[in-house]
Amino acid sequence: MAGKVLSLLPPLLLAAAGLAGLLLLCVPTRDVREPPAFKYGIVLDAGSSHTSMFIYKWPADKENNTGIVGQHSSCDVRGGGISSYADNPSGAGQSLVECLDQALRDVPRERHVGTPLYLGATAGMRLLNLSSPEASAKVLAAVTRTLTQYPFDFRGARILSGQDEGVFGWVTANYLLENFIKYGWTGQWLQPRKGTLGAMDLGGASTQITFEMAGPAEDPDNEVQLQLYGQQYRIYTHSFLCYGRDQVLQRLQASALQTHSFHPCWPRGYSKQVLLQAVYESPCTRDQRPHTFNSSDRVTLSGGSDPALCRGLVSRLFNSSSCPFSRCSFNGIFQPPVAGDFIAFSAFFYTVDFLRTVMGLPVATLQQLESAVVTVCNQTWTELQARAPGAGAHLPNYCAGAMFVQQLLSRGYHFDERAFSRLTFQKKAGDTAVGWALGYMLNLTNLIPADPPGLLKGINFGSWVVVLLLFAAILLAAVALLLRQARPAKSPSAV
Ligand SMILES: *[C@@H]1O[C@H](CO)[C@@H](O)[C@H](O)[C@H]1NC(C)=O
Ligand SMILES: *[C@@H]1O[C@H](CO)[C@@H](O)[C@H](O)[C@H]1NC(C)=O
Ligand SMILES: *[C@@H]1O[C@H](CO)[C@@H](O)[C@H](O)[C@H]1NC(C)=O
Ligand SMILES: *[C@@H]1O[C@H](CO)[C@@H](O)[C@H](O)[C@H]1NC(C)=O
Ligand SMILES: *[C@@H]1O[C@H](CO)[C@@H](O)[C@H](O)[C@H]1NC(C)=O
Ligand SMILES: *[C@@H]1O[C@H](CO)[C@@H](O)[C@H](O)[C@H]1NC(C)=O
Repeated sequence: MAGKVLSLLPPLLLAAAGLAGLLLLCVPTRDVREPPAFKYGIVLDAGSSHTSMFIYKWPADKENNTGIVGQHSSCDVRGGGISSYADNPSGAGQSLVECLDQALRDVPRERHVGTPLYLGATAGMRLLNLSSPEASAKVLAAVTRTLTQYPFDFRGARILSGQDEGVFGWVTANYLLENFIKYGWTGQWLQPRKGTLGAMDLGGASTQITFEMAGPAEDPDNEVQLQLYGQQYRIYTHSFLCYGRDQVLQRLQASALQTHSFHPCWPRGYSKQVLLQAVYESPCTRDQRPHTFNSSDRVTLSGGSDPALCRGLVSRLFNSSSCPFSRCSFNGIFQPPVAGDFIAFSAFFYTVDFLRTVMGLPVATLQQLESAVVTVCNQTWTELQARAPGAGAHLPNYCAGAMFVQQLLSRGYHFDERAFSRLTFQKKAGDTAVGWALGYMLNLTNLIPADPPGLLKGINFGSWVVVLLLFAAILLAAVALLLRQARPAKSPSAV
């Protein structure tokens, strides 16, 4: 009896080995090393209306994988954008202190020294640099003084071009959605050529549209070529200065003062004392400025709740009278037809989200968006306040903002119903805000290599199959042996 059990032992061991091998191969492996060391990077997004700080983090050992860098935390700087400190530059630096102190706490102390810190300023500072280059230089010098007082690896404060802003927003969106490269379940890098996502950004002072195009751009100013993970991308991008939300509101106020003595986009029953200096100080309203005006004068402007007149006022922002190329968006700017999926973030998202969630209006089609805009613009101040309690200081401006978004998409960029159905309004992908900041950091830290990632570390699919078959063969052999040894013993008693 003992001899029989002993003779069964080798094939049983063999079977166990085969089974264990198969299980090890098929069960997904998990790293049992200690938690990976993280690296951090900080970007200050100095927009025209406010500054946001984003802290990003990624596992140090997986630096070049896509989708690995995510948002660790963020902070909204109190007060206006840095460009609003033109008369008090040191205040611009001081305004950042609270968020930078938060960064000292959010990033582990031992990582402070190696953490890159960038400040990128956008259209608000582009405008200030246009109207007063000295003032913009002073503001940048002041924020630089503050940022260098921190232990982080400060890599400079600069003004991004509109082109950079558009391209980095596009890079961020497509990086987060893993449209460049994907780590497949077989352990191989895949190039998911399902196409990239177009990106639309609406800031306070400018708006950007960026998407991949098939042919060359007729205007080289609108074309950027990128090589990411070994793939070549031909990108169309344009940034419209003075077409950000806040500047559009200023321009509409200026033309309301010029043409009507009331504001057709504001709700009836609402009125406001408008300081002429505030309306006309921006380079964006320079053309509308009267020859003589008393800059300390205030004019009372009342709302009209007039959707048709408001549409007329907004549509004058888009000049389609001439196009030096085969096709244009507006103002004589080349643009190929919009194609593929699009994501619209920042103020695009906030505007449409207001229509959807606060007003409870559907905006799934262009036509629904149009009638939602008319509904909002037709509300009196009392109705609007009742429908959107707690919507804050922006409430009187939602009609103008929504009218502008709708006109920009249809009249400006020529979205039709089909193209619109492929557009989503979204502010985040996972936990990470979609905007230019992440793409900017990825580029400046070389976290997106131009070349394809090196060969995979684990075993590749071919050898995996060979080893799998080997273990299966061992298991089969063991079972055959077992059967042969068990049968002669059992058969006599069975008969
Ligand atoms: C990431 O890519 C860069 C350039 O391709 C390379 O120098 C670096 O070593 C890579 N990092 C890792 C962790 O693979
Ligand atoms: C301000 O504008 C000028 C002219 O376009 C440009 O050369 C300069 O680099 C800008 N300043 C900054 C800080 O970007
Ligand atoms: C501008 O208006 C203020 C008061 O509104 C007045 O005191 C001042 O004299 C005016 N200046 C000019 C140049 O008219
Ligand atoms: C539109 O642009 C054309 C050519 O650039 C210009 O002549 C015309 O005055 C503009 N129209 C308006 C309403 O701004
Ligand atoms: C605006 O609202 C009034 C009622 O408050 C309604 O009679 C009118 O038809 C509406 N106009 C539009 C364009 O929706
Ligand atoms: C990214 O950075 C490299 C330098 O590291 C630069 O040459 C390239 O133009 C940047 N890409 C974009 C889109 O600005």
